[in-house]
Amino acid sequence: MSNPPLRLGVLGSGKGSNFEAIVRAIRSNSLNATIHLVLSDNPAARILEVARSLGIPAEALPPSNFRTKLEPEIETAAATRLAAAGVELVVLAGYMRLIKAPLLNRFPGRIVNIHPSLLPSFPGLEAWKQAWNAKVPTTGCTVHWVDAGMDTGKIIAQATVPVLESDTPETLHARIQTAEHQLYPEAIAKIEAAR
Ligand code: GAR
Repeated sequence: MSNPPLRLGVLGSGKGSNFEAIVRAIRSNSLNATIHLVLSDNPAARILEVARSLGIPAEALPPSNFRTKLEPEIETAAATRLAAAGVELVVLAGYMRLIKAPLLNRFPGRIVNIHPSLLPSFPGLEAWKQAWNAKVPTTGCTVHWVDAGMDTGKIIAQATVPVLESDTPETLHARIQTAEHQLYPEAIAKIEAAR
């Protein structure tokens, strides 16, 4: 008998295309998982609208005074909500803040992220623009476990993407995102199968 579906909670700050790719993988039975909660630090994020349109509970977190992390109380509340929803794996999908102790301690070794470069190259913001500026011939995307550093956790999977002469940062990011949409659901499926 197969395992019960892996219970996912998703954190995102933006348009949520990786979240949508995970939903597609679940619907096509290539990922044995269910999504129980979507949280965003940005009340206007499209990811919340998409989740709600799919009937998935989706909540905006209260406003934060920091730009790169959440207040500990807000992060604690987020961790409590995810745990109450029975989430087993926290999936960061375009979540643009650092994860700190409240979530790391509540979900030790159970938070994954996707980053738009071949880590350890180009951690941080707008990694595709960093790669384009550096004129590297190849970049890509990385799925990794989340630790207390910025994009430093153990690498789970990577996909490479060529940088073309004709690329702008935007066309390069679009090509990386196409690779992300395949890599992220596959990586989560491997985690699910290894339970
Ligand atoms: C993705 O390209 C993801 O790799 C990146 O934000 C984008 C979110 O797109 N994440 C980071 O840069 C995290 N440091 P999406 O909202 O359409 O999934």
